[in-house]
Amino acid sequence: MKYSLRPRFPLMGRYRYLILLSLVGSLFVIKFILKGPIWGISEPALDMNMYSQKMNSLKKLLQDGVTEDDPSLIQLIRTDFINLPEIQPYNLKNPYLLDYSCGQSGAVDKLLNQKEKGFYIEAGAYDGESISNTLFFEKVRKWNGMLIEPDPFVFERLKAKNRKAILVNSCLNIKPQPSILQFNRGNEMGRVWVDTEDKNWVKEMKMEVNVIEVPCFSLYSILLAVNQTTIDYFSLDIEGRELSVLQSIPFEKVHIDTFTVEYLNGEDSYSREIKSFMEKNGYQYVTNLPGNKTCTALDALFKKI
Ligand SMILES: *[C@@H]1O[C@H](CO)[C@@H](O)[C@H](O)[C@H]1NC(C)=O
Ligand SMILES: *[C@@H]1O[C@H](CO)[C@@H](O)[C@H](O)[C@H]1NC(C)=O
Repeated sequence: MKYSLRPRFPLMGRYRYLILLSLVGSLFVIKFILKGPIWGISEPALDMNMYSQKMNSLKKLLQDGVTEDDPSLIQLIRTDFINLPEIQPYNLKNPYLLDYSCGQSGAVDKLLNQKEKGFYIEAGAYDGESISNTLFFEKVRKWNGMLIEPDPFVFERLKAKNRKAILVNSCLNIKPQPSILQFNRGNEMGRVWVDTEDKNWVKEMKMEVNVIEVPCFSLYSILLAVNQTTIDYFSLDIEGRELSVLQSIPFEKVHIDTFTVEYLNGEDSYSREIKSFMEKNGYQYVTNLPGNKTCTALDALFKKI
C-alpha cells in the first residue's frame, strides 16, 4: 500500500510560511488592540482572588464594629494592607531625575533647611513616580516614608517601582472606624464614590465611572500600624476630599511638621476653608504652589508654628 506524502496538517503544507506569518501577525494585532507593549513587560496584574480574600477578612472585622485603635484592626492592616520598604533597586521610568514634583519637593526642602532622614507621608501616591512629591526626599535626603494609594490596580504599579517606603493600600477614612467604600478609578484622579458631591465631581471632571470597593482606614489607624506618629512632611492630594481628611486627624496625638494640601486656586471658598482650618490647628500658611503650564500643582504649603 502506498501512503501519500502529502501532509495532513496545514502548518506542514505548501503555504506553511504564509500561515505562520499570519499567525504571528495576528498576535501583534491582538497585542495592539489590548494596548500592551509588543515587547517588554506589561502592567503588573492584580490577583483578584487574593484581593477579595483580604476584603472579606476586613468585612468580618467591620461586623464586629472595631474602633480605630483596636489591636485586631491594626494587626489586619499590618498583614494584609501594608508592604514594607523594598530593598531591590528602583524600577523607575526616569531613573536619573531628582525632583519628580511640580515644585512641592523643592519648596518643602527649602522650608525644612534640607533636612535629612525625616519621615514623609504621601496620599494619594499614585504609581510612586509620576509627579511624586516625596521621591526626592527618599532619593536625595534619605528619608523614610509611607505612600498611601487606594486603587488596588494602581497599587500593583506602585509596588513595581520598588520605592524604599512603606506602601499602604487604603483610602483615608474621614471617620475613626474603618470602612469599605466604593472608589471610582481614574488613574491620577481616582476618588471615593459615596455622596452626591463625589458623583458631581466625577461628572464635572468628565470622567468615566469605573467603581471598585476599597478599604478605608483612618490616618491614625495607619500610623499605629506603622509605629510612626511624628511626620516631617505630609503631601495630601486626594482629589477633593482633603478638608474632610484634615478634619479627621487627631492633632493632639500626631505631630506633623509641614503639609502640602491640594486645593483650588486659593481664592475660592474651599481653599479658604482649608486655610482657616489649618490656622485654627496651629499651622502657618506659607505660600501657594501653583506649578506651571506643563506641571499643575495647585497646592498650599503649611508649616507648624
Ligand atoms: C515647570 O515645572 C517643572 C517642575 O518644577 C519644571 O521641571 C519645568 O521646567 C517647568 N516648565 C516651565 C516651562 O517652566
Ligand atoms: C511596628 O511594630 C510592630 C510590633 O512591634 C512590628 O511587628 C511591626 O513590624 C512594626 N511595623 C513597622 C512598619 O515598622
